[in-house]
Amino acid sequence: MDLDALKKRAQEESSAIKNLSDLEKWRVKYLGRKSELSLFFDSFKNLSLEDRKNKGAQANKARIFLTSLYEQKKKSLESATTHFHFFDITRPGKKIPKGHLHPITLVLNDIIRSFEKLGFAVVLGPEIETEYYNFDALRIPRNHPARDMWDTFWLQKGLLLRTHTSPMQIRYMEKHEPPFRIIVPGKCFRFEATDSRHEFQFHQVEGLMVDDNISLANFKFIIEEVLKDIFKNQVTVRFRPSYFPFVSPGLEVDIKLKNKPRGQWLEVMGAGMVHPDLFDTVKYPKNMWQGFAFGLGVERIAMIKYGIDDIRFFFNPDIRFLEQF
Ligand code: DAH
Repeated sequence: MDLDALKKRAQEESSAIKNLSDLEKWRVKYLGRKSELSLFFDSFKNLSLEDRKNKGAQANKARIFLTSLYEQKKKSLESATTHFHFFDITRPGKKIPKGHLHPITLVLNDIIRSFEKLGFAVVLGPEIETEYYNFDALRIPRNHPARDMWDTFWLQKGLLLRTHTSPMQIRYMEKHEPPFRIIVPGKCFRFEATDSRHEFQFHQVEGLMVDDNISLANFKFIIEEVLKDIFKNQVTVRFRPSYFPFVSPGLEVDIKLKNKPRGQWLEVMGAGMVHPDLFDTVKYPKNMWQGFAFGLGVERIAMIKYGIDDIRFFFNPDIRFLEQF
């Protein structure tokens, strides 16, 4: 067997190789179990000891030569791959699908941020409430017609799913002395048939500010600031007298978008000056404090902000809706 010719041929072929799979074929051909060299080794069985030593030494040298050829080629191909194929900087990036926040969360975050700028602290309350905090302490006694304003999911005796965030007014005042200003974002529930404007679950942001010289003027200023902030100044605000048992006077706040001057006024919250009975209930000294309170409808704000005409979209897992935010 002409080992020099074999080495020459192998070297020529290897220098023409441009990728790792061709190199693998080369390796099988020259170093594999069925390669010429291996067959040559196999043929030694029948030779004399002397011949075996001679040819064996040559054949070994040839194998070392071929192996080192292979190693070198592999190294150079791999480093070339790294530079020119593995990192192709001209290739467009792969878009990784990313989750995002629910529109209600986005709007809640906006509302919270706006109130925080004005010094309001965020407080959370329980979704399961007692009849006392949800109704009685707020001057909504049993069998009073005012209770009809809040259709209720009753749980076991005396417990219910809160129908509004107002019970936190009482819970907070029981444990804190004025002055303070807080907001209470959270979920509320009403035992209602659903339609495009009603859901049996929704979110409110309750607000309560108590100090020793608070008037409706403070309320109007703060609410206007916040609504302008949330709607990037594109909003007109209107205050209307209304009734809620736990405030006196009570009012409702409507907004209209400036870019829709012919559009309707849309109600976004109930509010008023905290009724003095509530201060009695939490054992504040008489005639010492005044405050205002409000309950803002989060879905309402989101519907106006994003032009959504059916509240039921928010609790529908349809990805085509959710993907738009
Ligand atoms: N809790 C009332 C509701 O759910 C909204 C409300 C009205 C909250 C007046 C207030 C308030 O704090 O002062 O309908």
